[in-house]
Amino acid sequence: MTHTSARPRRATRVVAAAGTAAIASGLLLAGAGSAAAAETADGGSLSWGVKASFRSYIAGPIAHGSITTGGGATTAANGTYAFPATAGTVDGSSVDAAFAGSVHFTGHAGQLDMTLTDLNVVIDGTTGVLYADVDSKSLSSGSLVHYEDVDFAALDLSAVTAQPTADGYSWTAIPTTLTANGVPAFADFYAEGTALDPLSFTLDVAEATDPDPGTDPDPGTDPDPGTPTQAEQDLTVVVPEGTEEPEPGTFGWEVTGDGSAVSLGTAADAGDHLTATGQLAPVVVTDTRSTRSAWSITAQVSDFTAGSTTLAGKHLGWTPRVVTAGGGAVAGAAVTPGLVSGNGLAQTATLGSAPTGHDLGTATLGADLELQLPSDTEAGTYGATLTLTALS
Ligand code: HEM
Repeated sequence: MTHTSARPRRATRVVAAAGTAAIASGLLLAGAGSAAAAETADGGSLSWGVKASFRSYIAGPIAHGSITTGGGATTAANGTYAFPATAGTVDGSSVDAAFAGSVHFTGHAGQLDMTLTDLNVVIDGTTGVLYADVDSKSLSSGSLVHYEDVDFAALDLSAVTAQPTADGYSWTAIPTTLTANGVPAFADFYAEGTALDPLSFTLDVAEATDPDPGTDPDPGTDPDPGTPTQAEQDLTVVVPEGTEEPEPGTFGWEVTGDGSAVSLGTAADAGDHLTATGQLAPVVVTDTRSTRSAWSITAQVSDFTAGSTTLAGKHLGWTPRVVTAGGGAVAGAAVTPGLVSGNGLAQTATLGSAPTGHDLGTATLGADLELQLPSDTEAGTYGATLTLTALS
């Protein structure tokens, strides 16, 4: 008996477009455009180990020292320190976040005494600075020197972009180097440019402040409308509701991940167009029905919108993949973004399927997403919804 029924799942739009919690990394589009509203952090934390070799030196037989955290900072199991966020703003790829707590290093029977407090991360595009108040005993004078709000470490964000989390954003493993102004605090033992530990932080953001993404809330405050602006884009993946653990003899499927928006990263100039790529949140399909009936997972994307600006969904294409083989699953055909011709994923396409008589089992399906946009695309925060449908 073959039994094939269409089972479109009720969809939950997990994250809306502009101005909500799911800002992905900056999408730099040429030309003037409206900047996304700044978002205010109401939580988060910074994780940084300063420099692993310095920590070993302090705790080891040379310095015979100790390390203590205070003021809300804590030491993590891996030896790095966690500082709670006290304030922060995220405005496209500009971030300014302050963190409480301190870490205090001592050694050489008190001759080494260094405290970092008042950490402040400031990011502008692909560069950033970690500012801190530093107190460190001078090796020559033996007295404590206070460095107020010194630019202590340089942050390199050329390969790290904000990733959406359930509550806001995270930046992971940002490479850091010692600045010239940080050198004396380490008694000149490290040269300017010495690699310090990578720094990670999260910021939780409050609900969107823009009540109506269709209108520019206050065009008069656009800080610099004459230059290219940074904006964000999200692709929202619809997570089906009520997907139960598959039992023996059933067909079940679910989108993995935490339901936050899929980031298409930073749109890059590709000559005659802009391109951005990302990964679909993997979809796990289990089919243990003795009927071995055919199944398929299909998808279709909505238009991308940023306020009142719309970009046709056809600009999105993909290359489906079977990430973990099983149950006779095969990947659907690649769909080219419809920049030049075709409908891209605006037209229903197959992510994966299994033919009648397939093996029983579980497969994980994924897809490389590719968005191709005209070079003159207006800057803005673009969001879209990809709706996945199972036929079984
Ligand atoms: C009595 C005073 C001190 C003595 C005898 C001393 C001695 C040493 C020695 C023997 C080393 C190892 C050098 C090597 O392996 O090449 C070292 C490394 C170092 N010292 Fe000191 N030191 C003193 C004070 C300080 C102070 C005040 C600071 C300021 C924070 C400091 C920061 C460092 C740093 C950053 C390193 C390099 C650690 C690493 O990454 O391996 N030292 N020190």
